[in-house]
Amino acid sequence: MANKITIIGAGQVGSTVAYALTLKQLASEIVIIDIIKEKAMGEAMDIRQGTPFIGPVNVRDGDYEDAKGSDIVIFTSGVGRKPGQSRLDLTQTNVDIAKSVIPTITKACPNALYVIVANPVDILTYQFIKTSGIPASRIFGTGTLLDTARFRARIAETYRVCQENVHGYVFGEHGDSSFVPWSLANIGSIPVDNFASSYTGKDVLPSFDKNDVEDYIRKSGGIIIAAKKCTNYGIGVTTATLVEALNYSTDSVLTISSMLNGEYGISDVCLSIPTVVGCNGIKGHIATPLTDSEVASLQHSAECLKDVIKQINF
Ligand code: APR
Repeated sequence: MANKITIIGAGQVGSTVAYALTLKQLASEIVIIDIIKEKAMGEAMDIRQGTPFIGPVNVRDGDYEDAKGSDIVIFTSGVGRKPGQSRLDLTQTNVDIAKSVIPTITKACPNALYVIVANPVDILTYQFIKTSGIPASRIFGTGTLLDTARFRARIAETYRVCQENVHGYVFGEHGDSSFVPWSLANIGSIPVDNFASSYTGKDVLPSFDKNDVEDYIRKSGGIIIAAKKCTNYGIGVTTATLVEALNYSTDSVLTISSMLNGEYGISDVCLSIPTVVGCNGIKGHIATPLTDSEVASLQHSAECLKDVIKQINF
């Protein structure tokens, strides 16, 4: 596959994204850039030396010049969340880091697709769209794609069914105002609400509180950070899944963060709703009917993000 990917930021997240892309053989060349050059060098060398057991991927460290010709640029540089710190506390610091990178990387890669991973991802995605000059359809954030995976994994654990049979999405901000539109959640096309009562197997399926599930999803990042000081594997494979959709033009439905243009009465803010992603980026949103309270939750999420946008210096 002739596909060049540049990753900015060689921290826990950037290096795990590079490793996930390498394992899934989603690039022929991966360039890793970090302000700490030695870190990028070490991560690239470590991943590259495993490639004889994986496949022909050239993983190397580099500078912005080396990013030229990239099909995809993945932005992970930023300060990671500290235990107990909310994502939004980090905002101005990570916006300033993005501000210092955007002109250089977009000059080197004017035709690339941009995947924003660093947090607060919805705000940084908005910043990239507003300040880079790259078309909005080519810039998106991982958004609630990871939260959606956490949701599916949680329901699969609860009912002991295959994760791939659980469908449903987390909408909104990748953060405290995210929510699950339960009206869309199903297991093998059976609405989650009907699943336990329809099941005739011997196991007794537990009941669960929907609020607990949503709370668990919102708190997962914080729990993992408190336990191991970072999150990397979940976001690594989430980012690789998004790259896979771009590479293979799968037209996948993914909850990624992107600019809304009037869907559910929301505009001029980036957040996640189901979005069709093809090889040129965003093909379109799916503004599926939601219940009135779900629409209100999404509008609340948009307002929370707009409040932050107002307070940030882009
Ligand atoms: N240019 C390039 N790299 C930079 C810059 C910059 N201007 N500023 C910081 N970096 C690098 C750091 O040197 C570091 O290697 O970004 C990397 C960040 O790595 P970590 O501190 O390990 O943070 P990480 O856990 O990887 O999280 C990065 O992704 O998921 C999000 O919330 C997370 O916003 C955070 C980001």
